[in-house]
Amino acid sequence: MAREPHLAAMHKGHIEAAAEIMALGRDETVGARARATFKLHFKMKDLGVDDGRSYFVWMEDGRVAGVTGLHHYTWGPDENVWLAYFGVHPDFGRRGIGAVMLSEMQRLAQASYRRFFIETHGANERAHRFYRSQGFREAGDIADYNPDGAPMKVFVKDLE
Ligand SMILES: CC(C)(COP(=O)(O)OP(=O)(O)OC[C@H]1O[C@@H](n2cnc3c(N)ncnc32)[C@H](O)[C@@H]1OP(=O)(O)O)[C@@H](O)C(=O)NCCC(=O)NCCS
Repeated sequence: MAREPHLAAMHKGHIEAAAEIMALGRDETVGARARATFKLHFKMKDLGVDDGRSYFVWMEDGRVAGVTGLHHYTWGPDENVWLAYFGVHPDFGRRGIGAVMLSEMQRLAQASYRRFFIETHGANERAHRFYRSQGFREAGDIADYNPDGAPMKVFVKDLE
């Protein structure tokens, strides 16, 4: 489906809706982590500190329908970037929004980075299928990474 991107920079007023999307798509723990991460990011921003993170929301009919972003870790290679929290509200799923959000993140990342990584929970098969369908390949697992014993499964794509 051809879709025009509806992405806007996240602001503080979007935090609750964005965290709720992660809670609905994954679970309350992930939602709480997302909320804490977004709040920390905006505190850093208020202090004028660039934390290497950027967040975006997908707006649909005045609602926050999706959340995405990029995480660059200063302790990692300069050429690497990671997909940040990524989710689409269940009311807006399976309409191609996730695919456009991911391709927009790749377009943005291409300006500064060469390799695009995605961290996933080892049991999140829907997400794995989705990332494979978007041209990402499995980079490997970190066994027993999650408290439930599931691995962290990492996907990667080389940016052109
Ligand atoms: C993964 C996720 C972001 C995908 O978002 P989405 O907007 O539903 O993604 P899309 O609509 O682009 O694609 C999803 C599927 O719907 C299909 N699809 C897209 N448009 C469609 C349409 N109009 N009709 C029917 N199916 C469609 C796609 O082919 C895709 O199938 P696939 O996964 O087998 O490749 C979403 O499922 C989600 O939020 N999951 C919970 C949170 C999560 O796990 N995030 C990832 C953490 S690592």
